[in-house]
Amino acid sequence: MCGIFGYIGKREALPFILEGLKKLEYRGYDSAGVSTIQHGKIFLNKSCGKIARLEEVLEARPIGGSIGIGHTRWATHGKPSDENSHPHSDCSDQITVVHNGIIENYLELRRQLAEEGHKFTSATDTEVIAHLIEKYFKETGSLETAVRKTLNAIDGSYALGVISEHEPDKLIAARKGSPLLIGIEEDETFIASDISALIKYTSRVIYLNDYELAVITENDIVIKDRDGKTLKKNISFISWDPESAEKCGYTHFMLKEIHEQPNAIRKTIEGRISAESANIHFDELNLTEKEIKNINRVVFTACGTSWHAALVGEYLIEQMVKLPAEVEYAAEFRYRHPVIDDKTLVIAISQSGETADTLAAAWEAKSLGAKVISICNVVGSTLARDSHGVIYTQAGPEIGVASTKAFTTQLSVIYLLTLLLARTKGTLTGAEIKNYIHDLIELPGKIEQVLAREHEIEKIAQKYYLSNNALFLGRGKGFPIALEGALKLKEISYIHAEGYPAAEMKHGPIALIDQNMPVVVLAMTGKRYEKILGNIEEVKARGGQVIAIANEGDNYIQEKADEVFYLPKSPIAVSPILAVIPLQLLAYYIAVKRGCHIDQPRNLAKSVTVE
Ligand code: G6P
Repeated sequence: MCGIFGYIGKREALPFILEGLKKLEYRGYDSAGVSTIQHGKIFLNKSCGKIARLEEVLEARPIGGSIGIGHTRWATHGKPSDENSHPHSDCSDQITVVHNGIIENYLELRRQLAEEGHKFTSATDTEVIAHLIEKYFKETGSLETAVRKTLNAIDGSYALGVISEHEPDKLIAARKGSPLLIGIEEDETFIASDISALIKYTSRVIYLNDYELAVITENDIVIKDRDGKTLKKNISFISWDPESAEKCGYTHFMLKEIHEQPNAIRKTIEGRISAESANIHFDELNLTEKEIKNINRVVFTACGTSWHAALVGEYLIEQMVKLPAEVEYAAEFRYRHPVIDDKTLVIAISQSGETADTLAAAWEAKSLGAKVISICNVVGSTLARDSHGVIYTQAGPEIGVASTKAFTTQLSVIYLLTLLLARTKGTLTGAEIKNYIHDLIELPGKIEQVLAREHEIEKIAQKYYLSNNALFLGRGKGFPIALEGALKLKEISYIHAEGYPAAEMKHGPIALIDQNMPVVVLAMTGKRYEKILGNIEEVKARGGQVIAIANEGDNYIQEKADEVFYLPKSPIAVSPILAVIPLQLLAYYIAVKRGCHIDQPRNLAKSVTVE
């Protein structure tokens, strides 16, 4: 949510900042801006709209300099407008600030500063930071001290980049609660909200922790704690391939990421399983056999698509590990006095590892004595670092706002973790585990078969793309996939879509069904197949249009449904991972036909770092 990119080095800063912001645009895209220092003077350009709009503005009024900061915004305080865009300045336009996060006491600070004579030009919370730095610089004559005093005065969350004419050779960065990384190369340093913006330039990064402040000059990076004590920080190496953050010939990142799923799953399971010995191993899980045996309950917590992955996990844990399992929205969990203890395993799932509510839920669980394991895609993310153990999905950078490969790799990890718990608890035999592992190994090949038939989905999309509403129905593990299918569709096509357990349809949504209502039904063969057929009959009897996702060989369903997409036969436990692929494609092609912004849907952000 909001992206920050900064550069300091020997070359022109602007091209780096614009390129970095484009990589971060998925975090927010309602306005953008840059500020640089050239010959000791601050320059600033910002505008409402996407980065392409800012580029037009910059073409008319270019700015130079080899130090600068930039920002792409997802509005929280103040509507998207030129004035509310970042960077924000102090009264004298000598200090500029970019910020990601929320300053909770900004109203009180703004009132005090206004009384002291500061003039505000925006409706944002961020602007108080620029004025506070101005005030404290006047008092102390040191930019670093002024920033530190400012950070002590504000409540809330922030990732910050600050430059100033007062000390024109410095870029100051700080973080509390919002992610910020420092990328290091010879003769140049970058700051960025996440790795995807840095991998083109460097593979060496320093993760800033909460309450840390970095003073960066052309030749030096000094990181200090909240008391001003210099810290020794480790440099981490990023293994992501720079190509993985490019579209590589695909029209949209989302389509590329849908197609990357077979290999992403292969990478996620590779090196962690042995089908021969039924062995499963996660390097950083950090759970002993004794601790696993001690677990008597599993609680998943997450937001958005990751929450849907958790719902599938609930079914798997109950079925295979025979433990009570529940799924909590992270935002609810953190405030509702959850009853958990040291026998509870809390599994926090987050692609980014930076979602504010999921972080807070994990911290809450830890404080109550639970073991917290996270499932994350971003190495070194806050959630990964703050959990007792972490399992990384190996999806590579996910840029499209609508999550696809992160979801299927999360499901693959949950599946393996479930098998590991079942093995340790003795609820599955070695032979059963071998079979389950084998089913997962086979899965990427089956996803490839589905992807090879995406034109069939495109045809279905052509028929239904003008609909205003859609219903997604599933039973058992198909229910979370129905929810995910509906979420994908509404996120990127803006069609109102709801996911329901198929049996619940009779308790309300059935009232909506008429000839204009496409109903996507997950109708794979399994224990509840007959019941799903019954639900299809109910939809048809009311004139609804049924799009069925069924298993190949099921000729019967053709007579019932208006459209059928066949999945290669697969065992029920892995079928959710396969069944979501046509739903991702359906959402994608419908949104394309409606002319929507696929990778950056309106109002959404990829990483929600505020409550
Ligand atoms: C946002 C994104 C979703 C994502 C959710 C949780 O809403 O748009 O795609 O599922 O955040 O993100 P996380 O990084 O915690 O998985």
